[in-house]
Amino acid sequence: MDHSSYLAWREARLDHHPHRAEELMVEIGGLADLGETEKAAILAICRRSNMAIYRCCDDFSDRAAVRSFAANFGLLRLDHHLCTNEDGVSEISVATAGVRSEYVPYSNNSLSWHTDGYYNAPDRQIRAIVLHCANPAVSGGESALFDPEMAYIRLRDENPAFISAFEHPECMIIPANKGPDHAGVRVQIRPAICGPVFSGDPRDGTLHMRYSARKRNIHWREDKTTTAARDFLSELLADDSGPLFRYRLQKGEGLICNNVLHKRTAFEDTPGHRRLLYRARFYDRMVSG
Ligand SMILES: [Fe+2]
Repeated sequence: MDHSSYLAWREARLDHHPHRAEELMVEIGGLADLGETEKAAILAICRRSNMAIYRCCDDFSDRAAVRSFAANFGLLRLDHHLCTNEDGVSEISVATAGVRSEYVPYSNNSLSWHTDGYYNAPDRQIRAIVLHCANPAVSGGESALFDPEMAYIRLRDENPAFISAFEHPECMIIPANKGPDHAGVRVQIRPAICGPVFSGDPRDGTLHMRYSARKRNIHWREDKTTTAARDFLSELLADDSGPLFRYRLQKGEGLICNNVLHKRTAFEDTPGHRRLLYRARFYDRMVSG
């Protein structure tokens, strides 16, 4: 993006960006019967911040309802992977056995800042997510959310070279993933993936971000500017006065977003009360421009 286009885009983004999590909230009747007004309200908020939090008046939810809700926003191409059900929707809950128990999201541990699918191949980038809370934890499980466009603006304002470093095609390498398949046999689940943090969608120019704050299993390009950009981003994401939102999803609430940066705190389950979120990840983006 050239400098004058950037300045115009930046001003529009900053002018309209929400300041509080409450501004992201839209009340809807239910997942399966979204009205046009409700849909328009969700899209209006997503145009400002790439995310919205909805609250259902009824508390019915299942995986099919999550898919049907997402389809209203053109979110159709689901990312199927080892931990999804056959319909492409994952149930995020604590797993003590099987393939899911190998991965941190299916534990009650905290998750550090990331965008979903940062380890996906370039042709399977995750552009949108729906995360629906069927049952919150007894305690904990709060999310923090950060619009990647705000991260881009802060980085570019600080030093335009940070953007060039993060756009480098070899900026972030995720080594091959080896682990047990459904039969428990150790196999290569996916090859090493190499790519940029920031990229523009060739179809419409919208910004896409791949990022993980994890220290293990990520190789960053060894370059002074890349290291400085990573440090700057880490500080930005740790700054509570920055443009981040903290929110703990309640039963019947959910997040719909263009794969924004997010993290979660650790949580506690009890034997009769298990945290359960439905998560659908899409190759489609919900809002353009
Ligand atoms: Fe995630």
